[in-house]
Amino acid sequence: MEEQKVSGEINRVAVTGAAGFIGSHTCEGLLDAGKTVIGIDNLSTGKRINLKGIGEHDRFSFFQADICQEDAMATILGDFQPDAVIHLAALVSVPIAEHNPDENYRINVLGTKLVAQAALKAAARRMVFASSAAVYGNSDQLPLSEEGPTNPINQYGMAKLEAETLLLSYEKSHDMTSTCLRFFNVYGPRQDPTSPYSGVISIFADLCASGRPVTVYGDGRQSRDFIYIKDITRGIITSATNTELPGGIYNLCTGQGKTLLELLDALKGIDPDVPEPIFEGEREGDIKHSLGNPSVARRILGFEATTNFAEGIRELQN
Ligand code: NAD
Ligand code: UD1
Repeated sequence: MEEQKVSGEINRVAVTGAAGFIGSHTCEGLLDAGKTVIGIDNLSTGKRINLKGIGEHDRFSFFQADICQEDAMATILGDFQPDAVIHLAALVSVPIAEHNPDENYRINVLGTKLVAQAALKAAARRMVFASSAAVYGNSDQLPLSEEGPTNPINQYGMAKLEAETLLLSYEKSHDMTSTCLRFFNVYGPRQDPTSPYSGVISIFADLCASGRPVTVYGDGRQSRDFIYIKDITRGIITSATNTELPGGIYNLCTGQGKTLLELLDALKGIDPDVPEPIFEGEREGDIKHSLGNPSVARRILGFEATTNFAEGIRELQN
C-alpha cells in the first residue's frame, strides 16, 4: 500500500460497499487494472467471503466501517488520500427502504453526502455513485433515457435521485468530477439468492441448480434490462479511472429487454431437466417492462454491455 499519489493518473481508489455483490467484483477489477484499493463496508448485507480472492492482495486493504460515521470516513479517506471514490454502499432492499424511510434517508442520502464530503476533504478528483433505474419509476416511455422524466415511486428511488442531485451540485462547486451511474437489473455470481427480495435471476439460477421449480409471478412475459456484473464493473471502473471522461448521469444497461420466459429458456439450455415453473398471480406493484437506452453512455463513456445473455446465465451455473 506504499504507492504514492501521482497527479494526473487515477491510481488510488476507495470503494464503499466493497464486500457486497457489485463492490467485491469492482475491487477485483480495479486490482486487475493495477490500482491500489481500499474497501469499506459495515458488513450489513455484504460478506467477508466475497473478498476471499483478494483479502491477502498487497494492493488491497479492507476497513469494516459505517459510511454514516463521519469521523471514521474522514480518517479512512484522509489517511488513504484516494484519487477516486466509488460509492456503492447502500440500503439496497426496496421493500425494507419503504418500511424504514428514515433509515433509507440516513444511509442513502445523508450517507452519500458524508462520503462525498470525506472524498472532497481527502482531495479525491473523481467520485462514482451507484444510482438506479428506480429513479425512473413506472414509466411507459421506453426505452428509459437520461434526458427523460424521473418519477420515483418508492423511497429507495427517491433517495437515489436526491443523492444524484447532491453529487452533481458538488461537481459544480468543487473540483471533483461526479458520475452517477443508473444501473438496471444487475446479475452475476455472488448475488445473494436467499433473500425474498433478491433479483429474479439469482433466485431462479439457485432453484434450478438444486432441481427445485421456480415461481413465476404473472405470465412470464414481463421483461427487464438484465446486465451482467462484468459489464457493470467495466462501466464503473472506466468512469472512475479515465480522467478524460466528464461526470454526469448515465444509464448502465444493455438496451435489450429479456422476458422471464426467455430467462427460463436460457436456464433450460444449460440443464434440460429443470422442473416446470409454477405460475402464480402478478406481484403487487410489479412493472411489466423495464428497458434502458444505452446511447448516452455509449457516446460519452464509450460504454457497451458486451456479455451475451445466454453466456452470462451460463457463467452463473459454473
Ligand atoms: P449489496 O447489498 O451486495 O452491496 C451493498 C453493500 O453495502 C453491502 O456489502 C453492505 O454491507 C454495504 N453497506 C450497506 N450499508 C452500509 C453502511 N451504512 N456503511 C458501510 N457499508 C454499508 O448490493 P449490490 O447489489 O452490490 O448493490 C451495490 C449498489 O448498487 C447499491 O448502491 C445499490 O443500490 C446499487 N444498485 C444495485 C442494483 C442491482 O441490480 N444489484 C441495481 C441498481 C442499483
Ligand atoms: C426491482 C426490485 C424491487 C422493486 C422494483 C421497483 C430488486 C431485486 N427488486 O424489482 O424490490 O420493487 O425494482 O423499483 O432489486 N419474479 C418472479 N419470481 C421470483 C422473483 C421475481 O416471477 O421468484 C418476477 C418479478 O415479479 C418481476 C421480475 O421477476 O416481474 C423481476 O423481478 P426483480 O428481479 O425483483 O426485479 P424488479 O421487478 O425490477
